[in-house]
Amino acid sequence: MSKILIRGAKVLGGEAQDVLIDGETIAAVGTGLSAEGATVVEAEGQVLLPGLVDLHTHLREPGREDSETVLTGTKAAARGGWTAVHAMANTFPVADTAGVVEQVWRLGRESGYCDVQPIGAVTVGLEGKQLAELGAMHDSAAGVKVFSDDGKCVDDAVIMRRALEYVKAFDGVVAQHAQEPRLTEGAQMNEGTVSAELGLGGWPAVAEESIIARDVLLAEHVGSRVHICHLSTAGSVEIVRWAKSRGINVTAEVTPHHLLLTDEMVRTYNPVYKVNPPLRTERDVMALREALADGTIDIVATDHAPHPGEDKDCEWAAAAMGMVGLETALSVVQQTMVDTGLLDWAGVAERMSVNPAKIGRLDGHGRPVSVGEPANLTLVDPAYRGAVDPADFASRSRNTPYEGRELPGRVTHTFLRGRATVIDGNLT
Ligand code: DOR
Ligand code: ZN
Ligand code: ZN
Repeated sequence: MSKILIRGAKVLGGEAQDVLIDGETIAAVGTGLSAEGATVVEAEGQVLLPGLVDLHTHLREPGREDSETVLTGTKAAARGGWTAVHAMANTFPVADTAGVVEQVWRLGRESGYCDVQPIGAVTVGLEGKQLAELGAMHDSAAGVKVFSDDGKCVDDAVIMRRALEYVKAFDGVVAQHAQEPRLTEGAQMNEGTVSAELGLGGWPAVAEESIIARDVLLAEHVGSRVHICHLSTAGSVEIVRWAKSRGINVTAEVTPHHLLLTDEMVRTYNPVYKVNPPLRTERDVMALREALADGTIDIVATDHAPHPGEDKDCEWAAAAMGMVGLETALSVVQQTMVDTGLLDWAGVAERMSVNPAKIGRLDGHGRPVSVGEPANLTLVDPAYRGAVDPADFASRSRNTPYEGRELPGRVTHTFLRGRATVIDGNLT
C-alpha cells in the first residue's frame, strides 16, 4: 500500500502539521513526521480540510449525458475538492425505483473519482401525485436516505406528510425544493424592482417562504426530519431560525451563487444568471451569509446544474435554469465567507463536509482529520488568485456565471480513501 506525507498544511486552518496517509486511512498526524517510504506533498501555506460532501448535485445520467455523465460530473467534483456527492433524482428516467438508483450508484463506484450517493424521488415521475417506492430504494444496494423531487416542489401537503412519515422509519430525510407552483407560474426572475423595470415575470419570495413554513410545521407534527434546499430569501432564513428555536428537526442549505450574486445581474439578459430559485437582492444575500455563519443554515450545497450550450445560448425566456458549481464552490465560499471574516476554515469544514455527511447519514465522510479515519481529504491554496476559465472545467457543461471573474483559492489535491484524484490541480 502506498504512503503519502502531506507536509506542513494548516489542518482546518489551524496549526501547520504533517499528515501521513497509509493505504486508505490517516496513519499519523503531528509535526516532523518521517517521510520514509512516502510520496511527499509539500503543503506549506495550504489548508487541509476533510473531503467536501455535496448534498445537491445534478449528474444528469441516465438520460441527459449531453449535459453531464456520472464520470464527467465526478471528475468535476474531484477538481472542486469533493469526495462525495448526492446525485439528484430528476434524471430520465427519473430515479424513482430501486433499479434506477442502483444504476447511478454502480456508475459512481465505477468512476473512482468521488463517491456517489443517489437521491431517490419522493413521487413517481416527480409528478407529485403518488409516493415513489421509498422503502425499496432505501433497501437497495444504493441505500437511499435522502429523497427529493428537486426541480419541482412537493406541493401537495398530504403527499409531503406521507413522505415524512415514511422516511421516519429508517431515519431518512425529505429534501424540499420549496416553491409554491401557482405563485411562480411563468416566473423568469426574482419579483422586485428589477423585474418590474425589465418587465419580466416575477418569482415572489412568498412562494418559497410559504412552503418552508408549511413543511417545518408538518415535520414537527409528524416528528420527522425535513431538509430545505437552496434557501434564497431573508424571510426563509427567519422561518428556519424560528423552527430551530422551537426544536423542529429542520436543516437548510444555501448555494454559493446565492451567497454572491444578485438579481441586478439579470439586467445583462445573460442566461447564465437564470437559475431556480432565482438570484435575489443584496439584502437577501447578506441575510444568507449571516445565517450560514450563525448556523441557521447548516450547509453549502452546489445545486450543480449542468446544461448544454444550446439550452443556455438563447434568449432569456427560453433558456434552461441552472448553473454548474462543483469546480468553483469552494472559491466562492472563500470569497464570501472566509475572506470577509464571517467564517474560519474550521467553519467551512463543518458546513461543506461534516454537516452534509450528517444530514445524508453518509458513512466514512465528514470525519475528523485524525488517526484511523478514512483519508478523504482536500488541500486548498487560499493565496491563489485566478480568473475562472470554463474551457478548463472537467464538467461536460460550461454554464458558469463566473467566466473571467477572479476568484480566490484553488484546490491543489483531493484524496479519496488515500488515493489522489487531483494532484497540483490536475485530475489523476
Ligand atoms: O436551477 C435549477 N436547475 N434549479 C433546479 O431546481 C433544478 C436544476 C436543474 O435540474 O437544472
Ligand atoms: Zn431545486
Ligand atoms: Zn437542484
